[in-house]
Formats: sequence, structure tokens, C-alpha cells
Amino acid sequence: MATESSDPSRTDRLVERTESGLDSGRFPMEIINDEEVYQAELRRVFARAWVYLGHTSEFEEPGDYARRYIGEDPFIVTRDENGEMHAFLDSCMHRGAQFCTAETGNTSHFRCPYHGWTYKNDGTLQGMPHMNEAYQDLDEEEIQLQEANLATYHGLIFGRIADEGPSLTEYLGDFTWYLDVLFNATEGGLTVVGEPHRWEADYDWKTAADNFSGDSYHVLTTHQASLETKELELGPWEELDDYLEAAYLSCTDSHCAAYYLSEDPDTYMGYPEEIEERMHEDLTQEQRDLFARSVFHFGTIFPNTSYIHGIQSGGWGGPWVCLRKWQPRGCGKTETISWWLVPEEFADDEEFLDDSHSGWNSLSPAGAFESDDLTVWEGISESSGALTHELRGTEGNMQQGMGDMTDLTETVDDPVYGPAETTWQGGYFDERNSRMFYQAWCEMMSGAANPEGER
Ligand code: FES
Ligand SMILES: [Fe+2]
Repeated sequence: MATESSDPSRTDRLVERTESGLDSGRFPMEIINDEEVYQAELRRVFARAWVYLGHTSEFEEPGDYARRYIGEDPFIVTRDENGEMHAFLDSCMHRGAQFCTAETGNTSHFRCPYHGWTYKNDGTLQGMPHMNEAYQDLDEEEIQLQEANLATYHGLIFGRIADEGPSLTEYLGDFTWYLDVLFNATEGGLTVVGEPHRWEADYDWKTAADNFSGDSYHVLTTHQASLETKELELGPWEELDDYLEAAYLSCTDSHCAAYYLSEDPDTYMGYPEEIEERMHEDLTQEQRDLFARSVFHFGTIFPNTSYIHGIQSGGWGGPWVCLRKWQPRGCGKTETISWWLVPEEFADDEEFLDDSHSGWNSLSPAGAFESDDLTVWEGISESSGALTHELRGTEGNMQQGMGDMTDLTETVDDPVYGPAETTWQGGYFDERNSRMFYQAWCEMMSGAANPEGER
């Protein structure tokens, strides 16, 4: 695992500066694409948080597995022969070799390519070559693959390296109310279709997670050309006169979402009509109303999981759910992993899938929206790493929606927005969620450097 700087105090000072600056909507630019900060993030954020690993619908059969990461640590997520889910560090207990060579597959055993030790898919040792001659006094029970703690919520599988910490539901807090509306909206819940898209680029994972926490502001500039070329006004968006109303939710100081709601109580995101009867019976009336009136919503589950749920529109297809993981790949580098999900009830409906796929695909590497964002995010990474910022202590700005900046922002108390503290804007302009995202970052970054204690 990566080592922390010999001078950790600089990172600590930056975290303190970030925390105190947030009160006035400022942050030190140098926390983006900084090697010392990044190494600390691996230990203080990624090793301690519940990190998204995949969806249970990707692992339906015993033996199904996929390579996924917590921070930069490679784990093999698999369902064993008894149906239990596991996530094993891909590191053989003999000399540490990687034993899984495929990204996904199905197997009951993993055989290490170095000396041939073999493990069952429950992590226990099956055997090794020349076992009787070479290992007459070996304690086989003691040899177990390193395993991450696992927990699931409506099919979302999260893993954590640290043994100590809150349960997954405690960690998600009030945000579960909104995850219910998205991932448990219908009786069958959501299911993953196909393999995720993946692409790597030179941007800091925080930039993307911050963007998806509630940055509607950038859409008007970054995506202007893409929006104009597709003539979105031809779609049902145009019929929703008031869809531009936006609300920003922040929950449990960590997880954030933005919603655009219509006054129309039966929008149902543009899903086929039968969705109304298929809504999950566990949802409250307020949760049903939120789903029925929502035309677009997106959010970030701290630290590095985000989603967008978009309505059907004439220009882009849909409705579609895009679930993302911002996979760190080194300082200032991130791999986007993008899953396409649909309600289980429509997973065999070819017409629906065609429409939904074209909506989801607009956020793929070949989609106009994605290249818009990547160009900007890569520029942020390069320039935030500039020595000038470090030497001058430059501060960036996230003051939008604060105090005297606007008289349009107001806190709303409408049950349709659920338990989160919610602000409402007549337009797109509030950076409260960005401030909340970095507040959550500060809280994890100011904890003990090593989650398992100093070693
Ligand atoms: S390192 Fe795996 S068997 Fe030797
Ligand atoms: Fe964007």
C-alpha cells in the first residue's frame, strides 16, 4: 500500500485550511492533484469508508466474480457456492501474487499462477502442488485470503477495509430514504444491464464526485453546445413548463443529491405506464411522490459513487439510470466506471431498452456530455497541481447560494423532499452540496492516518 509523506503535517494543514475556508466558501486549490494529499486520501478516506464495489445483479450465479478496487487495492468480488458474497484482496497468501487474471468470470476456485496454491471462492485454501511432501506441518486453516468487510443496500454492494466504523446503514444515514426511491422504486428493484463502460483520464476523483453532488451550474456552459445540437426542446422536457425548479439535498453531512421536480404529479420519469402499479409497496407516499414528480436527479454517495437518473426526452432517449464509480488510479488520475441500470420489470422490454440505452449512452466516452466534462476536469487537474497555487496559497470559490450572495435561495420544508436539509432555487445556482462534499472530505481526512492503528 502507498506510504504517507514523511511530512504529514502539510496535509493536515491543508485539511484544516479547507475546513475553516468552507465557512466562507473557500478552499485551497492545491488539495486537487496533490501527491501527498492523494496518499493520505487512500489511507484516511478510502480505507475507512464504505466504497461501492458492484451490484448484486452482476453476481447472480455462484462463482460469478469481478475485479473491483477499494482505493487502489485490487479485490475480487465473488459469490461463493453457498450464495454468500465476498471481496478478497487479489494477493496470494504464499508470496502475494495476483491470482485472478480476468476482469469478470465464473469460477469455483482461483489458482495462483506462481506456485499453484488454490483457493475456493469462499476464500479458504483448497490445496497446493506437492502438498504432502512440502507442507507436512502446515496449518491450512490459518491460510485465508484477506477479505474486506461487505454490506449491501438494495443490491448495492459496498466494501470496507477498516474493521472499525459505522455499519453501512449508519454510514448512509438519511440518504437511504433517497436510495430507496431510486434503487427500490419498483418491486423488482434495479438491475444492471451488460458490462460497465470504463475509461481513464487525468482528473482528480474529487472533481467528479463534487460535480455529481449537485453542480447544475456547469451544464449551461460546459454542455451548451451539446444541448443545442440535440434540440432538446423537441422532447417532453418542453412540455414540463416548470421542470427547471431545482432542489438541493444534503444528508448526514456526507451524501448529496440534486432534484428537479415537476408540478405534474404523474411524470414518473417517462417510464411505461405500468410503472405506477409496480411501485414498491415499502415506499411512503412522499417517496412515491418524489419519484412521480422527478424529471431529473443526480447525486454522490461519499466518497466516490455517483448517479444520474434522467427522464425520457425526445433528443436523448431514456429514461435511464447511470451509476458511476470514480476509481482513483494515482494522483490526479481517475478511471470512470459507468453502469447502466433499469427496473427489473423492464429488463426484457426491447423497445424500452433501446430508448434507455441511448439516454445512458449520451454519458459514455463517445457521448457528447462526457467529452465536455473530461476536457474541463483534466484542465482542473493540471492547473490545480501548479506550483503557483501552492506558493501563493490560492483559494478557489464555492460561495454560490451563501448568505448575501443571493436572495433567491431558501430552505424548503416540503415532505416530498424527504428528511434531508433542502434548499430550493428558482434556477440552478447553489453550491451548498459542494461545500457539504468537502466538509465530509475534511471529516474523514482529519481522522487517524492509519485506520488499523499505527504500525
Ligand atoms: S505466490 Fe501464490 S502460490 Fe506462490
Ligand atoms: Fe457535466
